[in-house]
Amino acid sequence: MRDFIKDKLDTVYNDFCEAAKVSDGLCPLKDFSFAGGESPDYSDPLVRKYYMLKYFPGYMAEYYLMYEHLFDEKFLSNTVINILSLGCGCGVDYWGFHFAATKKVKNHQKSSSYTGYDIIDWEYRDSMGHDKHVFFETEDIGNLKKLDYDKYNIIVFPKSISDFPDEVFATLLKAIENTKFKKKKIAILCSFMTNDSKKYDFNRLTRLVKVFEEQHGYKCLDKANEYFHMKDKDVGLNTVVPGFDYTLPIKKTIFKTLENCPNFIENGKSCDQECSNMNQYPILKTKYVNYAIRRLKKDQK
Ligand SMILES: C[S@@+](CC[C@H](N)C(=O)[O-])C[C@H]1O[C@@H](n2cnc3c(N)ncnc32)[C@H](O)[C@@H]1O
Repeated sequence: MRDFIKDKLDTVYNDFCEAAKVSDGLCPLKDFSFAGGESPDYSDPLVRKYYMLKYFPGYMAEYYLMYEHLFDEKFLSNTVINILSLGCGCGVDYWGFHFAATKKVKNHQKSSSYTGYDIIDWEYRDSMGHDKHVFFETEDIGNLKKLDYDKYNIIVFPKSISDFPDEVFATLLKAIENTKFKKKKIAILCSFMTNDSKKYDFNRLTRLVKVFEEQHGYKCLDKANEYFHMKDKDVGLNTVVPGFDYTLPIKKTIFKTLENCPNFIENGKSCDQECSNMNQYPILKTKYVNYAIRRLKKDQK
């Protein structure tokens, strides 16, 4: 995991510096925030790179814990795993899955599949050598009439459930209603945003579970308000995830973003006070680990 994070971060950081150099300035990054349920503008490639530098290692660590948790529950047979990831971005949750499954699932490279949907064609997608089993669809989830495959047994929302507009989420529920699921056991994994949108995320998860219960006859084995987070939120992710390492020196992280802005370089100062908002810390602590698992089971007839 350490080498993977290092290689990916180096690549993204170098691309980010190159893109910054030829930009008109890094103004869009001043407003990069999730406050009040807002989302960054993922259609901007610079924003995507910035997002990756801030979140990818931390989120990958969380997804690693989430999948490991699920495998430790021994709910699924841990032999045949078909994942559907909605709002997958570049597939950070696939990487978390890969590292957890390498430890916990026998022959996972051969027996598992991953399909990720996102409206944006994110860079840095990487099947880690499993091209035949890993698929990315650049598609608006709001266009789905039903799910493309009926043998999914993990449906995951990696920090994405609150990112879909209301009408898109309503269409997704309809698409799930229209799918005849073949698996007796399905796990829904939902990694929440923290603070602002948490209640909102929970509400959507509950509505989704209801569709499985009421339309498909599954029973949910977990309590409606149950979720997982770390007791000690200020602990470094490196203490709970083996191999977690944010390897760039601090000067090469987004903590020094402003220094990459061509306007800042040319003028020797920032254009306005807000510019310093773009200097942010990457996610290195456990306080963002926040996910729920819903195990759905259908009685055998
Ligand atoms: C917070 S990001 C999470 C990205 C990724 N899962 C991760 O862990 O880094 C939310 C994602 O949802 C995607 N999204 C938002 N609306 C969508 C839609 N209607 N259809 C498909 N993807 C959508 C965005 O493009 C974005 O990549």
